[in-house]
Amino acid sequence: WSKTGHRVTGHIAEKHLTRKARKAVDDLLDGHSLAFASTFADEIKADRSFSMFSPWHYVNYPLNLRYEDSEKSKFGDVVMGIENCKRILTDKTSSKENKVFYLKMLIHLIGDMHQPMHASRGDDRGGNDIQIQWFDEGTNLHRLWDSNLINSYGMTYYELGDELEGSVAKKEIRILQAGTIYDWVDETHQLAAEVYDSIRVGEKLRFKYAYKYNDMLFKQLQKGGFRLAKVLNEIFS
Ligand code: ADE
Ligand code: ZN
Ligand code: ZN
Repeated sequence: WSKTGHRVTGHIAEKHLTRKARKAVDDLLDGHSLAFASTFADEIKADRSFSMFSPWHYVNYPLNLRYEDSEKSKFGDVVMGIENCKRILTDKTSSKENKVFYLKMLIHLIGDMHQPMHASRGDDRGGNDIQIQWFDEGTNLHRLWDSNLINSYGMTYYELGDELEGSVAKKEIRILQAGTIYDWVDETHQLAAEVYDSIRVGEKLRFKYAYKYNDMLFKQLQKGGFRLAKVLNEIFS
């Protein structure tokens, strides 16, 4: 996702932390919000000394396979990235500085894992090589899902986050939080197949596309938020 998607994810998770997780997160983030911390992993991309973390934002594998049955990248991927963050955050010997870094990384990666084009296929670099039009603007399938669709609502992250958080019943939250990161990545990967089928190369997309896919978009942002809270609650309980 781009900034708004990540902040929406953080904003939704914020309201679902246990007391213990709340305290640990406040301590590590120096009182800043999850939304504020959520974009850190993209900000450090400009610094080449952090380039080893770039493959952690996504995973590519054949659309007919499950993650666990696919060939893994030796550079890491979003699943390995999340596992690494969890390991460092639960290791009593980790320094506070490391915990701060990997917490900010984790908040971001749980979000990215729910963007269909971040659990996609390698041939087209997660849709980056598939050119399309969004109204009168040239874009690609990856960017359409990172930002064009979200931005078309013209809402701030806290408006969209409040809207998406507030419209889910308690019982439904538990259902969205079920499963492991291995289930979640395969679920996103299945949606990637739908997204690839949703367009023709060079096609000009308008509101009709947003209307058709807004349920999927909103559901993915909600899952990212509620599941981020679950992961943090497990780490800090
Ligand atoms: N580069 C290669 N594959 C990618 C993906 N799925 N998402 C983002 N960047 C990528
Ligand atoms: Zn992206
Ligand atoms: Zn990212």
